[in-house]
Amino acid sequence: MSKLKIIGLNWKMNPLTLSEVKVLVEQYNQIQLNPNYEVIVFVPDCYLRYVRENLKNEYIVGAQDVGNYNGVGAFTGEVSLQMICSVGAQYSLVGHSETRKIRNLSEKDIIQKLDSCQNSNIIPILCIGYGQLSDQIDLELIKVQVISATKYLESNGEIIIAFEPVGSIGTGKVLEYDEIIRVVGFIKSIDSRLKVIYGGSVSDQNINNLNQIDILDGYLIGGASLKPKILKTVLTH
Ligand code: PGA
Repeated sequence: MSKLKIIGLNWKMNPLTLSEVKVLVEQYNQIQLNPNYEVIVFVPDCYLRYVRENLKNEYIVGAQDVGNYNGVGAFTGEVSLQMICSVGAQYSLVGHSETRKIRNLSEKDIIQKLDSCQNSNIIPILCIGYGQLSDQIDLELIKVQVISATKYLESNGEIIIAFEPVGSIGTGKVLEYDEIIRVVGFIKSIDSRLKVIYGGSVSDQNINNLNQIDILDGYLIGGASLKPKILKTVLTH
């Protein structure tokens, strides 16, 4: 039997209206999911409840970030982890490169977010990576990020790493396959229990080749997650 693949579908700040969400959810529901895939749909917080209630149960629903505060309180504009949980989230992205940039997050902030996932029902997907595809991959930086995940693993259990080269996100350019194997191998050499998924321009154009990389535990998919036809091809491979 083939191992369970984790497929994260990151809607980012899409779609614009709830009516469009309804259409997308209907299209998602028509896709016959491979039982060997665990598919997690990361939607904007405001759509979480609708998506959880209307998406078929084979899909899991997640949030795109964990707030900086727990529980409730006088934190205008913030959404806590317990809130996203109560409307159906079971996973959350943590430290996606876009979130890191927009919110100016430091490594310390990321660790704080992981800390708030402790003893909760949210499984974090920690996004790590480096700059442009032409840049030398900084394994030391990757190591620092991975250590936070291994510490989390020690004290809590489940965490997934999403390796995403920033230069590959939304550009149609996937990192060289040998490089993916090298970096994912490096991450797993730090802790072989870590599950590692790859993100950056995964689509119907490259899924066949990516599926040949045995060491990968799945993918984080942005753009293609909003195009049901392409997504169907990706999910049925
Ligand atoms: P992409 O995005 O698939 O559009 O490159 C991936 C991501 O940002 O997680």
